[in-house]
Amino acid sequence: MAAERTIQILPTAADLFHAAAEEFTRVGRQAIAAQGRFAVALSGGSTPKALYSLLAASYPDFPWARTYLFFGDERHVPPTDPESNYRMVSESLLTRIAIPAQNVFRVKAENPDATAAAANYEKQIRRFFALTPAEFPRFDLILLGLGPDGHTASLFPDSPGLKENSKLVIANWVEKFKTHRISFTFPVLNNADEVIFLASGPDKAAMVHEVLEGKPTPPLPSQQVQPTNGRLLWMLDAPAAAKLSR
Ligand code: 6PG
Repeated sequence: MAAERTIQILPTAADLFHAAAEEFTRVGRQAIAAQGRFAVALSGGSTPKALYSLLAASYPDFPWARTYLFFGDERHVPPTDPESNYRMVSESLLTRIAIPAQNVFRVKAENPDATAAAANYEKQIRRFFALTPAEFPRFDLILLGLGPDGHTASLFPDSPGLKENSKLVIANWVEKFKTHRISFTFPVLNNADEVIFLASGPDKAAMVHEVLEGKPTPPLPSQQVQPTNGRLLWMLDAPAAAKLSR
């Protein structure tokens, strides 16, 4: 059954990131009120940087001490590498908010064995959510981006990770980059209470149209994110939404 999908289109990038920050903090406060904590997986790449900076700068009262930050994917590099999602999040958010170090769950992607790094991250997640072997974690929120080829997290078209249905985290071989990337799998993404795709700018317009209105076979990875019992929210600025028919 397809998830309930909502598309929000904001006039400018600034409006988009403001709306995304409002949604992030709304979901966070709601989770903390309901269960005493907010477990959120952050997306990487460049788009969310502005969101993380805004969260750091404009929400001084947000309960970061009750917030637990995870990474939906990570490049197979050390945390000091310019390509590292952790480094991007650290610079734009972590170094600017009062969040206890133990509330941040970093992928130890410096491990030369990507499969071991993925397995270690899976262990961290299983421990945090106190999962039985057959259970998947239910994140209150997972942030995702949209890649130029329709990938999301590090689930790329034609990559082996698309078929993974039992692990939580995999080392996914990405042929076009000739490297592994560590990524959540679809069962984790689709078990979230809320998933937000953030896309900004004219460069995303064609792929936004293809994902939201196209019917490619096989479906694009971003089309396979359909939370089974959660909310799917696409947050776009007008340039990224420019090719949508309605
Ligand atoms: C990553 C992300 C990836 C990203 C898209 C969009 O590690 O790069 O997880 O899925 O969200 O590639 O990237 P941009 O925001 O840079 O366009």
